[in-house]
Amino acid sequence: MYRVLSAVLLFGNLADACQKDWDALARRSLHHQEHNRHAKRAEVEYPPSLSEIETILVNSFDNKSISEWSYYYTHGDHLGSHNKSMAEWTAQKWRDAGFDSWLEEFPIWVTYPEHSSLTLIRPDNTTHEANLVEEVLAEDDTSSYPNLIPAYHGMSASGTVTAEYIYVGRGTRADFQVLKDAGIELKGKIALANYGGIYRGTKVKNAQDNDMAGCVIFTDPLDDGEVTEANGYEAYPNGPARNPSSIQRGSVRFSSLYSGDPTTVGWASSWNSSRGDTKPYNPSIPSIPLSMKDAIPLLAALEGNGVSAEKANRSGWQGGFDNVTYDSGPTPGAMISIDHEMQGYIAPVWDVIGVINGTSPDEVVVVGNHRDAWVIGGAADPNSGSAILVELANAFGKLLAKGWKPRRTIILGSWDAEEFGLQGSTEWVETHLPWLQTTTVAYLNMDVGVSGPRTNFDGTGEIQTFVVEQMKKILYPEGYGDFATLYDMWFNSTEGTISPLGSGSDYASFYQNGIAAIDVGSSNGKKDPVYHYHSNYDSYHWMSTFGDPGFKIHTAMGQFLSLIVYHIADDPLIPWDLPHAATVLSSYLSELNETVTTSDVADLDLGALADAIAEFTKRAETISKIGQQALAFNDTNMLGVVNSKYRDFPRGFASAGGLPGRQTFKNVISAPGIDNGYGADVFPAVTDNVNGGNRTAAEEWVEKSAKAVLRAAEILRIGD
Ligand SMILES: *[C@@H]1O[C@H](CO)[C@@H](O)[C@H](O)[C@H]1NC(C)=O
Ligand SMILES: *[C@@H]1O[C@H](CO)[C@@H](O)[C@H](O)[C@H]1NC(C)=O
Ligand SMILES: *[C@@H]1O[C@H](CO)[C@@H](O)[C@H](O)[C@H]1NC(C)=O
Ligand SMILES: *[C@@H]1O[C@H](CO)[C@@H](O)[C@H](O)[C@H]1NC(C)=O
Ligand SMILES: *[C@@H]1O[C@H](CO)[C@@H](O)[C@H](O)[C@H]1NC(C)=O
Ligand SMILES: *[C@@H]1O[C@H](CO)[C@@H](O)[C@H](O)[C@H]1NC(C)=O
Ligand SMILES: *[C@@H]1O[C@H](CO)[C@@H](O)[C@H](O)[C@H]1NC(C)=O
Ligand SMILES: *[C@@H]1O[C@H](CO)[C@@H](O)[C@H](O)[C@H]1NC(C)=O
Ligand SMILES: *[C@@H]1O[C@H](CO)[C@@H](O)[C@H](O)[C@H]1NC(C)=O
Ligand SMILES: *[C@@H]1O[C@H](CO)[C@@H](O)[C@H](O)[C@H]1NC(C)=O
Ligand SMILES: *[C@@H]1O[C@H](CO)[C@@H](O)[C@H](O)[C@H]1NC(C)=O
Ligand SMILES: [Zn+2]
Repeated sequence: MYRVLSAVLLFGNLADACQKDWDALARRSLHHQEHNRHAKRAEVEYPPSLSEIETILVNSFDNKSISEWSYYYTHGDHLGSHNKSMAEWTAQKWRDAGFDSWLEEFPIWVTYPEHSSLTLIRPDNTTHEANLVEEVLAEDDTSSYPNLIPAYHGMSASGTVTAEYIYVGRGTRADFQVLKDAGIELKGKIALANYGGIYRGTKVKNAQDNDMAGCVIFTDPLDDGEVTEANGYEAYPNGPARNPSSIQRGSVRFSSLYSGDPTTVGWASSWNSSRGDTKPYNPSIPSIPLSMKDAIPLLAALEGNGVSAEKANRSGWQGGFDNVTYDSGPTPGAMISIDHEMQGYIAPVWDVIGVINGTSPDEVVVVGNHRDAWVIGGAADPNSGSAILVELANAFGKLLAKGWKPRRTIILGSWDAEEFGLQGSTEWVETHLPWLQTTTVAYLNMDVGVSGPRTNFDGTGEIQTFVVEQMKKILYPEGYGDFATLYDMWFNSTEGTISPLGSGSDYASFYQNGIAAIDVGSSNGKKDPVYHYHSNYDSYHWMSTFGDPGFKIHTAMGQFLSLIVYHIADDPLIPWDLPHAATVLSSYLSELNETVTTSDVADLDLGALADAIAEFTKRAETISKIGQQALAFNDTNMLGVVNSKYRDFPRGFASAGGLPGRQTFKNVISAPGIDNGYGADVFPAVTDNVNGGNRTAAEEWVEKSAKAVLRAAEILRIGD
């Protein structure tokens, strides 16, 4: 029951950005139900009462100026490495607000299509040529820019292939297995997958692992919930349904194996740094994204051949076109011809860094958002977040103008080249790692700040309680149902579910190095206007007409983020809930236990991990009490001790050598699922080896993960 409900409620955007893959969410929610982990709805004081400083911050957010920043960010090519002047503009805006601001340049591996085409050749030799860019719409000014970025898959290989093709459903390993079981020869053919479920790069990897020669990934109306043309909604620009020519671009790098520049995995990029081979990290076969409109003739040509949707009996195999059978094919003589020439080269990208020094310089909070987009617009991904960050800088500028100075240093980051693979943030973290590990209290990420009205956040355990409290202070805009506060909207959308972090956005490098982190945003539900993710129609026109008319959700999300930043930066006691962090670890252990008990190594002993979490729980409760006392008595020495422990304890979770087979993922608590790519696995090194049936390695990683939890507990220790 709960599973069905969650799947229907949450059509999170499938952003690299947000990782709100709804299958993964449904799966996790199922765990939550079994472990009774979803929260109870809290009573909310209404109207919320805010302190004087909170009131200044909240009142500073203005929908009109946010809309101006959004307009700026969405009217120029700003693909990673393409737009230094946008970085300079951002730095200047932050400077005007009172932040010390500068650019940091990183030369990274970039890919761009030189030439790309896809042609269907039917058995009767008639052909259909796909459009690899969206239609120009008179209403949407940036759909006709002369320098439109073609629709392509970042990090895809080049290749010229003409071959028969096979529909592979969502392109999961199990989907491919169905085809193999049916005796269908995959080798040398082209895979045609829909975009649903798992991360797109994993689909390409699965095709490659099955010796296929290419991969085409199309958008299916099944991903759009109720808001489809078939259900009577008009398509964008006349209505909220998806425009049939919309194409989802995106990177197909092997994201569960690494983050950042694939030529400098594990070290910082600079003009003189050594560089490795990208081969292990990126696909070796060409892949191309396709619109709904251009997918129909491809699917139609497979009708009557191969495995039927009914026989395949796989989740997401039968899509949403009601006049297409979704037979796998191949159809003898029906072929796809791909001609795909990618350029790969090293190019500079520019992060913008803005700083307000705190009075305690060894405590730092970093808040970041990426700036680069796949398209001229990028109104949701990522520039809803970018516009909010400018307004947030201005809000803190108002406090600075009154002579306020934060206790802790606040750093703003506007990252470049996130879309290729979190390059800007990863290279920055790798460059400044020793200092960040010494000083950073938390990293706060906002990528897709707004692609719809449904608030969500993921994050580490200690920070959750406090973030939920801030939501209760923010009024929710009218017009989206009867939700008085942001908390009410969030609870309605998620039933209190907060997922662990994977690697979908710029928090990854911080979190994987043992820094507390959250990822906040809001996305569309099944009845909300369809978000044209990574398409030309993620534009200012779409945002101001359908996504967030009036920029009210932008305003609320910005107010929310500003309170989070303010309290972490200025509260005498860092507002962590350590006992809750312990509860979260216990729930992750239950989840792992469930994975184990249904695996081939069902008797794996998790006792060491259970003992370590018990020790962590004890330390968490003690330090939490001491922290509260220190606060009550304004014992500044003790506050200093507790704060530094609150800052440092998650470093214990980072395993120095990295997780097996993926050295830039270090956090033993969670990492992206190897086979999923969007959702996170808990205790990933154990999970991976349990799934792989390697008992010795699984046992080894139970011990190592337990040691990591004990390291964190030891850092929290005060007295005996
Ligand atoms: C950079 O972005 C700005 C703002 O969107 C735009 O005005 C400018 O033309 C862009 N520059 C380039 C080189 O495309
Ligand atoms: C299609 O073209 C090929 C190669 O040009 C030719 O051998 C074949 O007979 C044609 N098939 C039909 C049905 O016209
Ligand atoms: C490489 O360049 C960076 C600046 O980009 C400099 O700080 C560093 O010392 C250089 N390293 C070597 C080995 O030359
Ligand atoms: C299916 O319907 C769509 C529009 O609803 C139409 O464009 C397409 O040509 C149809 N395809 C087939 C194979 O009949
Ligand atoms: C489809 O799969 C489900 C389990 O995933 C199974 O219960 C059901 O019997 C299958 N149906 C057919 C027709 O094989
Ligand atoms: C902030 O602190 C850093 C490091 O102590 C210092 O170099 C910098 O000058 C300070 N900036 C301002 C604006 O005070
Ligand atoms: C969310 O709101 C809808 C509409 O107001 C309501 O029907 C539904 O029960 C709510 N769900 C939760 C979990 O609060
Ligand atoms: C800002 O909100 C006001 C009041 O609701 C509205 O009239 C105005 O159109 C909004 N401004 C923008 C730029 O959307
Ligand atoms: C795992 O689950 C089994 C059965 O549900 C239970 O007996 C065992 O205590 C659990 N182990 C841990 C470490 O939670
Ligand atoms: C706590 O003590 C510090 C230093 O002694 C002082 O500056 C501060 O005002 C005190 N805070 C409160 C709330 O009394
Ligand atoms: C299991 O993992 C270990 C590394 O811990 C490795 O040495 C061993 O070869 C693996 N065993 C199998 C059967 O893959
Ligand atoms: Zn993004």
